[in-house]
Amino acid sequence: MKNKSNRIDERLIETLADGQFHSGQALADALGVSRTAINKHIDNLDALQLDVFRVHGKGYRLAQPLQLLKFDLIREQLREHQAPIYLKRVTSSTHDDLKQLLVDAPGKTLTPGTCVLAEMQTRGRGRRGRTWLSPFGSNLYASFYWPLPEGLNSALGLSVAVGLRLAQILEQAGIQGVSVKWPNDVYIQGAKVAGVLVELEGEPTGEGHALIGIGLNLSMPERFTQNIEQPYTDVQKHLDAPLNRHQWAVTLIRGVTDVLEQFRRHGLADLVTEWRRLDHFYNQPVNILLGQHVQQGVGQGIDNYGALLVRQGSGLKRYFGGEISIR
Ligand code: BTN
Repeated sequence: MKNKSNRIDERLIETLADGQFHSGQALADALGVSRTAINKHIDNLDALQLDVFRVHGKGYRLAQPLQLLKFDLIREQLREHQAPIYLKRVTSSTHDDLKQLLVDAPGKTLTPGTCVLAEMQTRGRGRRGRTWLSPFGSNLYASFYWPLPEGLNSALGLSVAVGLRLAQILEQAGIQGVSVKWPNDVYIQGAKVAGVLVELEGEPTGEGHALIGIGLNLSMPERFTQNIEQPYTDVQKHLDAPLNRHQWAVTLIRGVTDVLEQFRRHGLADLVTEWRRLDHFYNQPVNILLGQHVQQGVGQGIDNYGALLVRQGSGLKRYFGGEISIR
């Protein structure tokens, strides 16, 4: 019953995605349900924080048209991607979905590169227990499964590699002022546009795997941005033409799987110099916050293990944790 109701919600969203007015009766006819049922399903869309306008005599329309992701289109364009791709409309977190897939999988393992994409997350997670704002149909939320047959220690620097690739993708789209902030935040002109959340499961030296979650802000609806504390931006603000969400989803999946493969073969060896080019903190005076303690130095990029390098006095110190900011 729940699934049927969800399916009607989905069809309603698909119909309203054009941003035009649709009368209650036309929606009822198209979806094969009663007029009263349409009211109920419109309420469900309110609960998803989709901005639905109701105008007497005209019907319903979304505040902004939506470009919904279409699974077939993404799959078609990613023929070379051997692993399964899942597209969820609404989920708690794509990380949770990957975890569930693992629990259900025979042998408790998945094909490397298995990816879950979602249109919306109700409990999107960021690093350090923060919430990742994940409204419907606007940004990209994706989690990838990646095995670590040589143990969790081999994942050192993995998130750095992924963050760097995201930055390169933005640059290739012609965006100026892209930078990376250690360990894996991506910025445009000093404002955060994407983040990477890596969760490791397994043994330090035994077998394990990484769940790599990526949130890329493509076009955050204005009404969600008011409560974001840190400087924030999205891709659309830096492009002259309307972006194509499918193309961004395909480029993201292709780019991430490619960099994971590169990392598996060569680690960070080929990426350290490129990091330096895009490093927000390179040669900048920085504070490193470690718990309650602040240390100071000058950013010097990263080493082959993804550790942050900071010049302090005449020495070079490596950091594997902490929060870094410009002094
Ligand atoms: C950060 O704090 O910068 C990391 C944000 C990571 C967000 C992504 S969205 C897809 C995946 N699912 C989640 O719940 N979080 C990650």
